[in-house]
Amino acid sequence: MKHIPVMVEEVMSFLKCEPGHTYVDATLGGGGHASEILKRTAPDGVLIGMEWDEDALSAATRTLKPFGDRVRVFQENFVRLPDLMKDESADGILLDLGLSSIQLEKEGRGFSFRGDSALDMRMDQRIDQTAADLVNRLSSDELEHIISRYGEERWAKRIAKAIVQEREREPIQTTEALRKVVYRAIPKRFHSRRIDPATRTFQALRIKVNEELENLEKILDTGWKILKKGGRICVISFHSLEDRMVKETFRRLEKEGEVRILTKKPVTPSEEERERNPRSRSAKLRCAERI
Ligand SMILES: C[S@@+](CC[C@H](N)C(=O)[O-])C[C@H]1O[C@@H](n2cnc3c(N)ncnc32)[C@H](O)[C@@H]1O
Repeated sequence: MKHIPVMVEEVMSFLKCEPGHTYVDATLGGGGHASEILKRTAPDGVLIGMEWDEDALSAATRTLKPFGDRVRVFQENFVRLPDLMKDESADGILLDLGLSSIQLEKEGRGFSFRGDSALDMRMDQRIDQTAADLVNRLSSDELEHIISRYGEERWAKRIAKAIVQEREREPIQTTEALRKVVYRAIPKRFHSRRIDPATRTFQALRIKVNEELENLEKILDTGWKILKKGGRICVISFHSLEDRMVKETFRRLEKEGEVRILTKKPVTPSEEERERNPRSRSAKLRCAERI
């Protein structure tokens, strides 16, 4: 199980990696971007890494071992970055949002509806509610709200009702059980041939379980403050809710005179990269510089 980092060259050129400088990779994943940063900042650049998922963290720690004490890693939610860097500043920050292939492909995590697994979806095992908890406990209205807002799913009402009906018969504990309910709830003629009908519902639950938008909002509001003047923040997002939040926050910070936006439009992967790594297709990169 290996995660292929996206838009590596683009990210590296925005971050302007230089020896002696300090960079933060707030979403280490498998450590792909982090090891590129470390290669380009040899012999004395420092990387501060954050990752809240134990599996990803151990993969990253293995990948980054050759760089020795130039690396400091923390198993933390990235919203804690400003606390961790109280007396320090950085030349660059990278946020590469969403899931890594390590999480997506590992059985038992519940992120993928291919195969059957417990309906978990927590990126950090210390989070106290799983997707199964939400699906079996929330009211129909609450479920509808989550599926519609975080999944941008037009059939949210029908899906929420179907979930409540199904769980009265039997609790929904697995990815396959949920996938079937969603499959039946969406009228057949609206099933896409390209993506599984359950994709949006799974995305919505994952965002809710991990409070992904709340976390992103917090780090965008505070993260830039740990940058030196001229330091840069790069954010790679994978769906429109995230990208909109990045775009709007950067615009506000630019108006307030805190940053300069370096990407008027989001940067997207080249045709060659999309072919080689289909997962990169929805990626959008935005970057701003502290002034
Ligand atoms: C797309 S992957 C990063 C891949 C990485 N850039 C690489 O090259 O391997 C995103 C990672 O961010 C982590 N993550 C997501 N939200 C987080 C948060 N709030 N705090 C810490 N890590 C988070 C996920 O667990 C996942 O491993």
